[in-house]
Amino acid sequence: MTQRRFATIAARAGIAQDTAHEAVTPPLYLTSTYRLKALGQAGQYDYSRSNNPTRDLLAEALAEMEGGSQAIVTNTGMSACVLALQLLTPEDTLVIPHDCYGGSYRLFTNLAERKRSFKLEIINFQQADWQARIQACKPAMIWLETPSNPLLQITDIKAACQLAKQLRAITVVDNTFLSPVLQQPLALGADIVVHSTTKYINGHSDVVAGALICADQSIGDELKWWANCLGITGAAFDAYLTLRGLRTLQPRMQLHQSNAEQVVAFLQQQPLVSKVYYPGLIEHPGHATAKAQQQGFGAMLSFDLDVAPEQLPVFLDALQCFTLAQSLGGIESLICHPGSMTHASMSAEAQQVAGIGPTLLRLSVGIEAIDDLLADLSTAFKRLAAAVKNNSSQLPDSKPVQETVHEAPSDTGPTECRFNPALTALW
Ligand SMILES: Cc1ncc(COP(=O)(O)O)c(C=O)c1O
Repeated sequence: MTQRRFATIAARAGIAQDTAHEAVTPPLYLTSTYRLKALGQAGQYDYSRSNNPTRDLLAEALAEMEGGSQAIVTNTGMSACVLALQLLTPEDTLVIPHDCYGGSYRLFTNLAERKRSFKLEIINFQQADWQARIQACKPAMIWLETPSNPLLQITDIKAACQLAKQLRAITVVDNTFLSPVLQQPLALGADIVVHSTTKYINGHSDVVAGALICADQSIGDELKWWANCLGITGAAFDAYLTLRGLRTLQPRMQLHQSNAEQVVAFLQQQPLVSKVYYPGLIEHPGHATAKAQQQGFGAMLSFDLDVAPEQLPVFLDALQCFTLAQSLGGIESLICHPGSMTHASMSAEAQQVAGIGPTLLRLSVGIEAIDDLLADLSTAFKRLAAAVKNNSSQLPDSKPVQETVHEAPSDTGPTECRFNPALTALW
C-alpha cells in the first residue's frame, strides 16, 4: 500500500480488525494480565505493563503518522521525556534550548544538578553561535522544542540534525505544539519525537499521557525495554481515549489554526498589545524556517500586554471563552500566564533570559466559533482599557496576580532542595 495520509491513518487505526466478534470499533482491553495456553506457551500478550492491545493500536498509529519504526506510549508527556533520557550516561552531555517547556527544563536541570545523570548545556538556538557552542560541548543528545513554549521560537530542525549526525549525537524533538499533522521531525533527520499526547493528539483535555516515536528500530527496542522496566507505559483506558481523540486530529488542527490566525490579526490591532508571538507573522524571526519545515503555523500564540502586571486580573477575569488554565491543545480555548503557571518552575533569572516577561500571556486557541472568541477578547480589552484609563487596577472583584518566588535550583544537597520553591511548583 502507498503511504497513507494522516486522516486515513487516524480514522482507520484498528478498524474492523476484531477477530473475536467482528467489532468495527476496536475493543478496549482493560486487563492487567493474559492467560497462557499452557506452561511455557505465552501468547503475544502476557502483562499489560509490558504490552496491551489497545495501547499497541495507538502506538502503531502514532509511529505511522510520525514516520517512525516504533512508538512507545507512556503515562505522561514527562515520562516520555524521562524515557528518552535513559539513553544517556553521567559522562554524556545533553544540549537543551534555554526556552523549553518549564517542566522539561525542571527535569533536565534537576537530573543534571542533583542526580548527576548527565552533563547539561543550555543553549539559545536563536543566537548566531549556537552551532559553535554545540560543537564545543560534544553532546550525546540534542533536545529541540520547536516552536518553543511559550515564545514560539523556531529552531531549524534539519540544520540541528545535520550537526548532530556529524557529532554522532541523537536528536530528540518535542513535537507537542504542532502534532504530526503540522510537523514531522523524523523526516527532517531527527532520531526521536516526543509528545505530550495530553495536548493536540488527544485534544479533549481529559487524558494526561505521552508518547515517544523512534526512527531506528533498535533505539525503539531499547526504550521499550526501559519503559517496561521503569513502569511508565500508558494505561489502556487512556490509550483508548487518546486513539478516539487522534481520529479527528487533522480536522481539529485545521479549525484550531484558522481560528488562531484570526485571533493573531485581532491582537495586532489592539493598542494594549505590545508584541504578538506567532511564527505565521512575516516579521517573526523564525517565519521562513517555520514555513519551510512546518505544514502550518499552529494554534499556539503569546502576546505581551502593555500594562502593569497588577492589571492582568482585569483582563483575565473579563474573559468567558478563554479559560485561565494550564495545558493546551484541547478543543476549548485556554489562556495562561507562563511566568506564574507553566514556567513557574524556572527561576526568575532563567525566565528573564528566556524572554518570559511579567505581562506575557499565552493562548491555546480552541475550535469555538471565531466570532465568539473575538467578541470575548474585545470585551476584555475594553475592560482593560477602562482600568488603565482610570488607573484602577484594584477593581472590586479583581484578584492580585500571585507573586511566585523563584530561586535557582540549589546545588547544596537534598535538604535545602526540599525548600526550594522552584521545586514545589507542580506543573
Ligand atoms: C511542550 C511540552 N512537552 C512536554 C510536556 C509534558 O507533558 P505532560 O503534562 O503530559 O506530562 C508539556 C506539558 O505541558 C509540554 O507543553
